[in-house]
Amino acid sequence: MSAAQTLQIIDAVYIVAVVLFILAIKWLSSPGTARHGVLAGEIGAALAVAATLADPQVVQYKWIIITLIIGAGIGIPLGMVKMTAVPQRTALSHAFGALSAAMIGIAEYYVGIPRVTRFEMGEIALEVIIGSLTFTGSLIAAGKLQEILPQRPIVYKGQNVVSLSFLAAALLLAVALVVNPNYPHLFLIMVAVALAFGVMLVTPIGGADMPTVISLLNSYAGFSAALLGFVLNSKVLVVAGALDGSSGFILSVIMCKAMNRSFTNVMFGAFGQVQSSGVAQKEDRTVRSATPEEAAGILAAASKVVIVPGYGMAVAQAQHKVRELFDILTKKGVDVTFGIHPVAGRMPGHMNVLLAEADIPYDRLKEMDDVNSDLPQTDVALIIGANDVTNPAARTDQGSPIYGMPILDVDKAQTVMVIKRSMSPGFAGIDNPLYYLDKTLMLFGDAKGFVGDIVRELSGGHH
Ligand code: TAP
Repeated sequence: MSAAQTLQIIDAVYIVAVVLFILAIKWLSSPGTARHGVLAGEIGAALAVAATLADPQVVQYKWIIITLIIGAGIGIPLGMVKMTAVPQRTALSHAFGALSAAMIGIAEYYVGIPRVTRFEMGEIALEVIIGSLTFTGSLIAAGKLQEILPQRPIVYKGQNVVSLSFLAAALLLAVALVVNPNYPHLFLIMVAVALAFGVMLVTPIGGADMPTVISLLNSYAGFSAALLGFVLNSKVLVVAGALDGSSGFILSVIMCKAMNRSFTNVMFGAFGQVQSSGVAQKEDRTVRSATPEEAAGILAAASKVVIVPGYGMAVAQAQHKVRELFDILTKKGVDVTFGIHPVAGRMPGHMNVLLAEADIPYDRLKEMDDVNSDLPQTDVALIIGANDVTNPAARTDQGSPIYGMPILDVDKAQTVMVIKRSMSPGFAGIDNPLYYLDKTLMLFGDAKGFVGDIVRELSGGHH
């Protein structure tokens, strides 16, 4: 086969890979097709790697094989972490992706000088800046999520000015290099400044905001890869990077919208510090609590139940007990559905993943708008470790930090039951007026233990 023919075949394989990437993203958007999506993405990536290795410009495989083995040695254990560690695992993947994009850009520069054109210099500089800041930013995000670093926002006066001046310095150095690419020392300083900026960008952000930050960093890593595609003249990298960059960006926008917060608020708002004063004032208000027996009785008498899972279900790993509850109620003829808020939990799709792990049929999972039209006709809304996503203050209290955030209107159901351990607030650090309503029963306890107790009561009555 001539070299020209090989190149044509490689291009054809790249096109197939790109189509598979697009299908992967499309299919990943619904639980029913998500597994196909994962498979399409994997096959696409494997094809793209194989086609790249077949390129006649690749002259020897020794180092490629050695690094593939090292990479697999790191990647396989990383892929097997617990579900709760997925956010930090994802952050690490972005860090590696961004690091490799930055290193390839750096290599292109040093191999290329003194023949690097101004245009190439612009591409390389931008790509290396984004790759470097994404690398360190993602490492900090992973450290915060793994709780190696402090979760709380680390802030000081004038921080934004200092941080932004680092970004400005990196961009100025990039401009200087475009004017004259032949300054290898300047290039190194630019890389160092961008690395420092990545640290500054993420340290002031609270641990609980990390999923949004990661999604944003994901999008930066994608754009950096797309720019690298221009540098290397690789169309598949341009398309894959652009898909990654834009889908990451859209996801960040969806998350911000669902929390009713702006990008600026997430990035510079130092959100998530508990506002204890507001909670303390309301302690004199009464709440009613109930036992597992009482809760089981109410559930068994209902004909329509909506379960709203939240972060507490993930913490307690209660999804398998929830599945048992779902089975036993369904068997008793109760219509049970799950109300899924887009930002319940701490990462996109958190609840979907946990409920899928427990094999709850995904046609029982309802999105916010559908659930909200069902709730007024619902006998019991059972909230399991969710808080902010059910807080009616978002509709009524203009002074609330979550005012305007779309919520699940569980207070419209006939009876509300809330499983949580205490009256403590959730992520937003605010009190929840839902708990003081006459129709609300608090079921105090760990989600897994309490659901288990209800299941025991229900099956005891059954036999
Ligand atoms: P939260 O409002 O954070 O409330 C979770 C509740 O679970 C807490 O009030 C806690 O109360 C309870 N809990 C904790 N451990 C428990 C256990 N072992 N058993 C039973 N209950 C337990 O959760 P949510 O309603 O899911 O809302 C998510 C929040 O995270 C929103 O504010 C959202 O904006 C934010 N957020 C989400 C995302 C994504 S993408 N999902 C990303 C960033 C931020 P007790 O301590 O009393 O038990």
